[in-house]
Amino acid sequence: MRAVVLVLAVGALLTAMPRAQADPFTELDVEMWFEEYVSVVKDGRAAWTDASLGTNGVVCAQCHPNAANTHPETYPKYQKQLGRVTQMWEMVNWCIRNTVEGKNLAADDPRMTAIMAYINHERRGVKLDPGKH
Ligand code: HEC
Repeated sequence: MRAVVLVLAVGALLTAMPRAQADPFTELDVEMWFEEYVSVVKDGRAAWTDASLGTNGVVCAQCHPNAANTHPETYPKYQKQLGRVTQMWEMVNWCIRNTVEGKNLAADDPRMTAIMAYINHERRGVKLDPGKH
């Protein structure tokens, strides 16, 4: 009997304890969130041929067709050009400054998010391999 009381008491205590819980969401939410994601990827695809990121008329797609040679799965990694371990957005800015001759985008600029989304989307399914050259 005492054991039963103890089990009940512990049970009551555990249910009363606050738990970290994610907000509930529905299948419709998931579909809508994915649509939002896809629209940001499309914005990134558009940025890929958008000369207004730079000043010399050159666009990302000329050197990285379909985001080729961007290797998002290898970040963070040491980048010779910057002399330290970097995130991929820092190399996006390196290319914005040095190849299309534009101005850095902030890491949380929606255009940076779109560019990164497009690059990652093109390489989806590739195994993460940070640090690789
Ligand atoms: C004139 C050619 C050229 C253009 C235009 C260009 N890039 Fe690059 N990009 C390069 C070269 C060269 C590198 C350096 C490769 C290296 O050493 O890792 C590079 C590297 C990168 C990397 C890192 C690749 C890696 O392997 O780690 C990213 C990401 C990138 N570019 C994105 C962009 C984006 C976004 C744009 C458009 C704003 C752009 N590039 C425009 C030539 C170009």
